[in-house]
Amino acid sequence: MSASTSSAGAAAPSADRGAFSGRTAFIFAAIGSAVGLGNIWRFPAVAYENGGGAFILPYLVALLTAGIPLLFLDYAIGHRWRGSAPAAWRRFRRWTEFIGWWQVLIALIIALYYALILAWATNYTIFSLDQRWDSHPEGADGFFGEYTQALGGADVTVSFDYVPAVLISMLVVWIAVIVVMALGVQKGIAASSIIFIPLLIVMFIILVVRSLFLPGAIDGLDAFFRPNWAALAKPGVWIAAYGQIFFSLSVAFGIMLTYSSYLKKKTDLTGSGLVVGFANSSFEILCGIGVFSALGFMAQAQGVAVDEVVDDGVGLAFIAFPTIISEAPAGALIGVLFFGSLVLAGFTSLISIVEVVIAAVQDKFGLARLSRPSWSACRWPWSRWRCSRPRWVCRCWT
Ligand code: ALA
Repeated sequence: MSASTSSAGAAAPSADRGAFSGRTAFIFAAIGSAVGLGNIWRFPAVAYENGGGAFILPYLVALLTAGIPLLFLDYAIGHRWRGSAPAAWRRFRRWTEFIGWWQVLIALIIALYYALILAWATNYTIFSLDQRWDSHPEGADGFFGEYTQALGGADVTVSFDYVPAVLISMLVVWIAVIVVMALGVQKGIAASSIIFIPLLIVMFIILVVRSLFLPGAIDGLDAFFRPNWAALAKPGVWIAAYGQIFFSLSVAFGIMLTYSSYLKKKTDLTGSGLVVGFANSSFEILCGIGVFSALGFMAQAQGVAVDEVVDDGVGLAFIAFPTIISEAPAGALIGVLFFGSLVLAGFTSLISIVEVVIAAVQDKFGLARLSRPSWSACRWPWSRWRCSRPRWVCRCWT
């Protein structure tokens, strides 16, 4: 163990890293991280394809044997060694620092595609108002292919071409992320989750209630909850359950570790972890109910079985849901609620993913956040990018 950790077991951070004001702020931020695209567009299809109602058994086993214990491990490492993923692992054992950087790399890759999907969802929230995919000769499928362009063709190559509408909303998403990051742990990360998570819950409950009253919703729910106990004999079903829990609960890729490093020393981690774990799973079940009610309606409207319309990820959000929005009464409302929920849930998760990267860089170079800028203290513009040694160089960051 390094000298810095040997006595107290927790090294003091080199710069003002920020902190959550208390347990409630932390719980909101952690739920904001956990509840994301994984809940809304991944869980319903994963559960359906892996035993339906019977999937609840491997899911609960995965939650109790891996999700919650790993959540506690993340909390314990971050809280005791008080740092970003690389810093905390390094303070634990010097040679384990690479685990933290590996987590930073994973977070960086997830952040890039997450931001793109948020950009699409932002645009589709607006498109829902006039359901503009209706005017495309090939419907929602053709519209999405045209809208994303590069994804539509078979001969995809690396190029610097871009889709202006996507680029603009990508910029909006990244500017919003940068603003939240600059505001810091409490005023940025916690405050955005405290506002967005209750709003998301209200919006999603309205969406679920609306979907439940659509014709065919009961068939969708029957398909979703009907248990296929024989599926439990397949190892793939159990792997799917563990994979879902890992991604959905944001464990083992540095997020919860980083967040817990911003907690006061005396904080109830056990209670917080249980609240976060069960809140995330409850929201996941709600997503399954909402999505399968809507898919049941779509199946009935098209005169096909529910299994013919089930999709996940991009296909569910950007092809199946636009079709539902076009066919359902008050479709614009369903569209705004669905895509608005994707944006809110995705944004608070994206914040947490980007925070893994920001905190790692911040800790590595001893930077503080841009919370109280005093620009007059900067001698040269480039000085803002330097570390806090010597102190005067970075005085403008503190
Ligand atoms: N936990 C986040 C999600 O489910 C990453 O999307």
